[in-house]
Amino acid sequence: MLLRLILLILASAAAQSQPFHPLKEFLTSKAHRMELLLLDRELNSNLEEYIEELQSKVEVLQGFAEMIRTPLDAAKGKEEEYLSNPLHSFRLIRHMHEDWRQLEKFMRQPVGKIQTKFIKEKAKEFPSKEDADDATEAIYRIILTHGVPPKDLVQGIIDGVRYNGSISAIDCFSIGNLLFQYGEYSGAVAWLSYSFDLLEPEYYSVYDVLKFNSSEVLSLLARCFVELDREEDARTTLMALPNLAERSEDLLSLYKSKRHVKVSRDLQPALYEEFAQICRSSHQNKPSRLHCRYNATTTHFLRLAPLRMEELSLDPYIVVYHNVLSEAEIAKVERDAEPLLERSVVYDGKSYTSSKKRTALGAWIPEEDNHWPVLNRINIRIHDMTGLKLNRQLPMQMIKYGFGGHYDVHNDYFNVSFPTIKYCGDRMATVLFYFNDVRHGGSTVFTSLQLKVPAERGKVLFWYNMRGESHDLDDQTLHGACPVIGGTKTVLSCWIHEFDQMFIQPTYRRGNRKFFFHE
Ligand SMILES: *[C@@H]1O[C@H](CO)[C@@H](O)[C@H](O)[C@H]1NC(C)=O
Ligand SMILES: *[C@@H]1O[C@H](CO)[C@@H](O)[C@H](O)[C@H]1NC(C)=O
Ligand SMILES: *[C@@H]1O[C@H](CO)[C@@H](O)[C@H](O)[C@H]1NC(C)=O
Ligand SMILES: *[C@@H]1O[C@H](CO)[C@@H](O)[C@H](O)[C@H]1NC(C)=O
Repeated sequence: MLLRLILLILASAAAQSQPFHPLKEFLTSKAHRMELLLLDRELNSNLEEYIEELQSKVEVLQGFAEMIRTPLDAAKGKEEEYLSNPLHSFRLIRHMHEDWRQLEKFMRQPVGKIQTKFIKEKAKEFPSKEDADDATEAIYRIILTHGVPPKDLVQGIIDGVRYNGSISAIDCFSIGNLLFQYGEYSGAVAWLSYSFDLLEPEYYSVYDVLKFNSSEVLSLLARCFVELDREEDARTTLMALPNLAERSEDLLSLYKSKRHVKVSRDLQPALYEEFAQICRSSHQNKPSRLHCRYNATTTHFLRLAPLRMEELSLDPYIVVYHNVLSEAEIAKVERDAEPLLERSVVYDGKSYTSSKKRTALGAWIPEEDNHWPVLNRINIRIHDMTGLKLNRQLPMQMIKYGFGGHYDVHNDYFNVSFPTIKYCGDRMATVLFYFNDVRHGGSTVFTSLQLKVPAERGKVLFWYNMRGESHDLDDQTLHGACPVIGGTKTVLSCWIHEFDQMFIQPTYRRGNRKFFFHE
């Protein structure tokens, strides 16, 4: 009891003394990843210093051992004679009196105190477990979306693009482990087998230090086989290592009696597959008869400075405008919104929560009472492009997707009642500004339309979420954001609400979504 109490106190003290972990966004910020890279380099030089210090200690010890060995060797087999020599007698007594004592003191001196302290200090800058999990999720999502097999990833090939670099046995194991958690056992088998193949015998002692070993890989692999009802494969896997082989039957019955409870990914596989297919570079949009032209009709302003417009779909109505905002305007919004960025949240039918449906940072703008001049300009441009009215009381959202950042397939309308919807109506249309070119990935994809819209700087995507006449919610507008593979992606989402169009368009009609008025 007392022991438990002490442990409890120690644990809570440890929790309190945890250093403040400043928010670092390793997935979205290259600058933060750069800091990490520099820190890794610094730690490696620190390690070299430690090795050097250790090495010089080893050299001293070797010198000492050699010094002692010479007379001992000389005495070997003729100890009697050796000890009758006064020089030897003197030396032995003096040496035994002093030298070992000194040596013991020397051995006891810690090596690399400075360097170990350095690592400990720097530990507060290391990514958290959450960061590491996010990174694994990110690479997993890229693999899932692009159907990347282990042998391609190990060579750095993703979606037909060759990245220089590779991943290790431990990396493959993390991916396999995540697949296992999600209950994707066949996928896990592929990654775990690859992890085993990548194990390098010359690093076994290093793996030991890193708490990673081949038994861990093979026992998880065997567990996957059991989940797949491939008991023979599971047995063969366990037999491959002596320390598992001797317990193989016990392990097998353990795995069989305690089946794995998978973590739900809250994802419809068929829909995700459809989405993934369109994200891949092998997907080309069907050639359309639709047109590219200058739109000079929506507002008076456009007569003077028409916008280049590209129709992507007529039903639902989806168009793209080019070069809508200037570089300076984009930079201004990005700069002002940057400090407001936090983990993005999605509406789950009850409230806004962070979710694996979207992995990104989001900033609601403007914050209350904050009127940015650049927003007036955006507002005017939205009116020019859409002929519709944006409600200035409702915030827009800047979203920044980092490596692996994505947004699962969803509709922009809520189709539920809550205060905003009651007073403004549902989201009738969406205007999405792309702030940068994404090097690889990050397209917006409309699954029902088999339509992919690459993210390109200065482009604006505009679509209606409702059908023109009836204002019926249009489920054909189902869309998502493909994971970003290379670079980052920043967009500004603006939503146009139906009741705000009262004097512009025939507005919402009673009849369809009755619940607005009943609650
Ligand atoms: C890989 O490295 C080569 C040579 O250093 C370079 O030309 C190429 O652009 C790199 N590829 C990528 C995707 O970074
Ligand atoms: C391998 O690693 C696991 C988990 O860290 C550990 O429980 C196990 O004892 C290790 N096995 C060997 C043979 O080192
Ligand atoms: C210009 O864009 C608006 C809004 O998208 C659209 O209603 C109008 O038909 C377009 N005009 C032309 C000539 O395409
Ligand atoms: C909107 O919600 C209602 C009630 O839950 C449901 O019957 C309807 O199918 C939903 N409409 C769309 C387009 O999702």
